[in-house]
Amino acid sequence: MIKLAFVGCGGIMQEHYRHLSAMSGIKMAGHCDIVKERAESAASRFGGDVFTEYEAMYDKVKPNAVYIAVPPYAHCGMEEAAAARGIHLFIEKPIAADRETAKRVDAAIRKAKIISSVGYCFRYYDTIQTARQLLNGKPVSLVIGTWNGGMPGVWWWRQMDKSGGQAIEQTTHMFDLMRYLCGEVSEVYAVASTGCMTKVENYNVHDSSAVTMRLKNGGSATVTSSCVCNHGGGVTLTIITPEATFKIAGGTVSVNEAGKVTEYQSQVNMYEEEDKVFIDALRTGKRTRIKSTYADAMKTFNVTIAANESIVSGLPVKP
Ligand SMILES: NC(=O)c1ccc[n+]([C@@H]2O[C@H](COP(=O)([O-])OP(=O)(O)OC[C@H]3O[C@@H](n4cnc5c(N)ncnc54)[C@H](O)[C@@H]3O)[C@@H](O)[C@H]2O)c1
Repeated sequence: MIKLAFVGCGGIMQEHYRHLSAMSGIKMAGHCDIVKERAESAASRFGGDVFTEYEAMYDKVKPNAVYIAVPPYAHCGMEEAAAARGIHLFIEKPIAADRETAKRVDAAIRKAKIISSVGYCFRYYDTIQTARQLLNGKPVSLVIGTWNGGMPGVWWWRQMDKSGGQAIEQTTHMFDLMRYLCGEVSEVYAVASTGCMTKVENYNVHDSSAVTMRLKNGGSATVTSSCVCNHGGGVTLTIITPEATFKIAGGTVSVNEAGKVTEYQSQVNMYEEEDKVFIDALRTGKRTRIKSTYADAMKTFNVTIAANESIVSGLPVKP
């Protein structure tokens, strides 16, 4: 029996609850949220005790692993407290809103040698694995990523010091997918715009941004974000190689090669897959199927925070 605890019982945790509750051999032993009713709601549906303080939960419940799904600004010690107790970690992306927090947590995980998995769920699409195999060895010349849409409803999203802004909080998925499929980033330059979101209170994130990157393998990349795109837009990644062009939208990957387009449709739920892989790693102790460890997620985080730094300084930044 794997004993699990949960910190942050809000929106995305409902997705994990759904998949974990359908698995056998799992006990949901504790739910912690600073809004007590959210922890109570989870406990009434899935069993387990209610907490508003994570250390109290860790000490009473003694879980094998904890799922952490709090806003970027709220990573206030729950990872280090778990690591110090040998409790394994599943952490929702992004891992933090500032570099210091990420470094602290990374050090704690390394020291404790616990299993870590970060919720870069797109990596778990079967079709992304296909794209990775097909891309293997092809020289990537250009990557174009987009996360252009409306503004998420959660209150903390619209404040820079709480969410880190759209590139860190949302478009991070596209930066991560680019790294996963095309390799590391060596330099980041970014610009951003404000002034269009006139009717939203307590809003100080950028409306839109454009991030230009140099890839270590020699390719160029650009990733745009917009939360004022209420007409059209989309979440996409296009990868251009001399032999083929790959277009990724959700779980669908289209490969245009020699004028012939082959479309691969995903057969899996990405959240279910990442949960299954994490639970399997807890059961077996084998970590190899985890597609985004904390150390790896930190590289994606560093690219996005470099973009924010470049927006402020007006200069290119090495992530
Ligand atoms: N992988 C994905 O596709 C995906 C999708 C949505 C959200 N997310 C990520 O998940 C995280 C949470 O997002 P959300 O949409 O669920 O937000 P949310 O606001 O709906 O839920 C966050 C919860 O954390 C609680 N919380 C805050 N500080 C806490 C603390 N110190 N201790 C305990 N609980 C605390 C809040 O009260 C809230 O209930 C964010 O980092 C977000 O980027 C990932």
